Amino acid sequence: MQVKDNTFLITGAASGLGAATAERLVAAGGRVVLCDLSEAVEAHAETLGEAARAVRGDVTSADDIQAAVDAAVALGGERGLAGVVHCAGVVSVAKLLDREGNPADLEAYVRTVQINLVGTYNVMRLASAAMAGNAAGEDGERGVIINTASVAAFDGQVGQCAYSASKAGVVGMSLPAARELSRHGIRVMAIAPGVFETPMMSDIPEDAVAALSAAVPFPKRLGRPDEFARLAEQIVTNPMLNGEVIRLDGGIRMQ
Ligand SMILES: NC(=O)c1ccc[n+]([C@@H]2O[C@H](COP(=O)([O-])OP(=O)(O)OC[C@H]3O[C@@H](n4cnc5c(N)ncnc54)[C@H](O)[C@@H]3O)[C@@H](O)[C@H]2O)c1
Repeated sequence: MQVKDNTFLITGAASGLGAATAERLVAAGGRVVLCDLSEAVEAHAETLGEAARAVRGDVTSADDIQAAVDAAVALGGERGLAGVVHCAGVVSVAKLLDREGNPADLEAYVRTVQINLVGTYNVMRLASAAMAGNAAGEDGERGVIINTASVAAFDGQVGQCAYSASKAGVVGMSLPAARELSRHGIRVMAIAPGVFETPMMSDIPEDAVAALSAAVPFPKRLGRPDEFARLAEQIVTNPMLNGEVIRLDGGIRMQ
């Protein structure tokens, strides 16, 4: 599928990986609907000009995501919604037991899973319903869904029970979703980033950033948001990429 003249829904598009993906797809001639809880999504859409629209919304809400999908279908005209790059997510850290041996807060766990995992399912189900009605392109292709996992799905660290579980769930859905949606000509992929320079990581102290950078075999630095966007663009344009999770991490394996 080409990016040019196609329309994509990008969640988490106010910031970080989603914002960079929106920029790259617009630069490649695509149109984008930027969806995010944050009001900053409106200003980012404005910087992208006529090719972009903003929809404030929560990925866990059926109504909000239906509105974002509808906006993308309208922006896409005859071609409808061609693809989704789902980047909205939250990070969380909590040990099962604190220093005094008290159990962790259950609501915080549920919130992380609700946004990162249930939100991903919500976006997939509503976007695929719209894409299934598209006219088939080359090879019968009607759409592509790119989800965002994390290396924490595989190498979770202490305190990452909720985050790792939510991202492992995203990994786990890739193949069954790709298999199911294949009859509609819709591909499903996930990207599992290592550590990227985004606002999500801005609270990490400088010495921790230096240690994380040193732990990357090559290149010895954090990933840049446009490197994620480049992979998303490649997945859109390469029809053989389906049902797989790609680590994008410079070879890092978390301790
Ligand atoms: N930055 C990294 O190092 C890294 C590594 C691995 C995975 N990831 C994943 O990549 C994705 C993007 O992260 P980022 O680094 O760009 O973070 P970010 O914080 O810069 O951007 C995330 C965006 O998601 C939005 N968001 C959060 N909850 C939402 C909700 N319920 N509904 C709609 N929007 C919501 C936020 O408002 C924000 O704009 C996340 O899923 C994250 O878990 C990031």
